[in-house]
Amino acid sequence: MSSKILIANWKMNGTLDFCFSYFESLGKEVAPPMLPERARNIVFCAPFPYLFALQGRLLEKGYSLGGQDCAAYDAGAYTGEVSAAMLSDTGVSYVLVGHSERRSYLGESNEICRLKIQQAHDKGLTVIYCIGETLSQRKEGALENVLKEQIQDALPKSVTYENTLLAYEPVWAIGTGQTPTLEDIEETHMLIKALAGSHCKNYSARVLYGGSLNEKNAREILALSKVDGALVGGASLKPEKMAQIISLMPENV
Ligand code: PGA
Repeated sequence: MSSKILIANWKMNGTLDFCFSYFESLGKEVAPPMLPERARNIVFCAPFPYLFALQGRLLEKGYSLGGQDCAAYDAGAYTGEVSAAMLSDTGVSYVLVGHSERRSYLGESNEICRLKIQQAHDKGLTVIYCIGETLSQRKEGALENVLKEQIQDALPKSVTYENTLLAYEPVWAIGTGQTPTLEDIEETHMLIKALAGSHCKNYSARVLYGGSLNEKNAREILALSKVDGALVGGASLKPEKMAQIISLMPENV
């Protein structure tokens, strides 16, 4: 069994002090310390300004660093944007693309996501591409079509097992305390793997689950065979909760 991947998405939270004390507390909570080959699969997506400061601390412990977004363009007059090359310069090896908050607040389309994914691939970053349906889409029975479009319109032919992870994040489960049933998660992950495989031949996608995953439900969700890991938002902001989730990864149980 290849080991599962855990992504912490801090969103727009924290301060420099928070970043430093977080890893001190996490170090005390995660006992015994993880072997580097295991720790590498735990990724912290911190806000841009803190990435550089975190680089040394994270890499020393073996954890990986991720960005929460990257620009759709290489370089130039794009005020406020951060390119994939800049992320790579700060020690980042993963980047989130297409998070539902960016899709809904910033109008990010599948086409924009495609450009971002391409940029990230060109600069050697591993993409965590987020997809998922809203509650009304689910109620209308549009789940499969929504996922299909998000996959077909955004995944370039450069996707491989190594360079792209998919994160299934039902929008209605993000930050709400609600999660789909275990059967629903397993079934939807199977569907996503099939859709991704038929869009890009030879692409055997790893699919992470995200949306209200916490220290209470992590064990059963992470144990599902079609779940290749998790994307954790709110619960990842508390080092003691994150440490519990780490300890519940199947290879650590
Ligand atoms: P949540 O967020 O764990 O707080 O629901 C997940 C995410 O948005 O990535």
